[in-house]
Amino acid sequence: METKIMETPGMSSMKLTSRPELFAFEGISMTHYFTDNWEKVKNFQARPDDILIATYPKAGTTWVSYILDLLYFGNDAPERQNSQPIYMRVPFLECCIQGIPSGTELADDLPTSPRLIKTHLPVQLVPKSFWEQNSKIVYVARNAKDNAVSYFHFDRMNMAQPEPRDWNTYLQTFMEGKNVFGPWYDHVSGWWEKEQTYSNLIYMFYEDLVEDTGREVERLCSFLGLSIPAEQREKITKGVQFDAMKQNKMTNYSTLPVMDFKISPFMRKGKVGDWKNLFTVAQNEQFDEVYKVKMKNTTVKFRTEI
Ligand code: A3P
Repeated sequence: METKIMETPGMSSMKLTSRPELFAFEGISMTHYFTDNWEKVKNFQARPDDILIATYPKAGTTWVSYILDLLYFGNDAPERQNSQPIYMRVPFLECCIQGIPSGTELADDLPTSPRLIKTHLPVQLVPKSFWEQNSKIVYVARNAKDNAVSYFHFDRMNMAQPEPRDWNTYLQTFMEGKNVFGPWYDHVSGWWEKEQTYSNLIYMFYEDLVEDTGREVERLCSFLGLSIPAEQREKITKGVQFDAMKQNKMTNYSTLPVMDFKISPFMRKGKVGDWKNLFTVAQNEQFDEVYKVKMKNTTVKFRTEI
């Protein structure tokens, strides 16, 4: 029997005619898809048991979202896993595309406890109720080079993102911080500073997840206060591997028509060090120079290979 995929009303017929413009919003490059609903985002009412998954785009948001979903709801009715795409289970808080429910509406309507909510906002723009409610936050960061490559391919295939143009132009833009959600450098270091003072935040690295997913799942469980039997944790760890998620229609984004998989799939490579296939020697040298300057005031350290 074929399972019917549950989607946001209007989602499957959603076609965008042109790519959005980038503009400065609260000092951050944004498109209107993430600012149109700003009053509701700013005033969003978080709950103490909410779990906010925060990332710079392309750092492993979907991966961690799916891990958390399985940890909390993996034993629930199979319909959840078989018919609800991950973007329905874990609403994208600031996302607002005409014709479909906004992230705040989806989050308000979530029947689950906890609610899993995704954001790409830099730390200073996170709605204040999350801090007031002392909600738990899972931040995932990915090294700048792989993050830039992944974001470039994503912008090529996602018609809801600005046109990235050629790789060299895109890389310059990335170094200038003129991407949707602003500079990678400030995002990862801003959240890193927050982690020093806000104890309900776990700062994770994409590279660690690739290196040993099971270990990171265990780390997440202890942060969340979950005692999941080892056998179940192992099952989850297996189910969230790249190939499994790429085959899974509920996690591979194949149900979203704004993405053109003929250009590039959402689940693209899932590797650490793929940047070496795109960066030229000269681009790499320039990138390293810029990196040193931009990251001179932070202690957060990344691995560009494992
Ligand atoms: P690549 O484009 O390098 O392949 P986000 O969910 O934040 O948009 O991040 C998407 C990136 O995470 C993509 O990177 C995607 O392939 C990778 N990813 C998603 N699930 C993964 C998994 N289970 N293992 C490794 N990488 C994964």
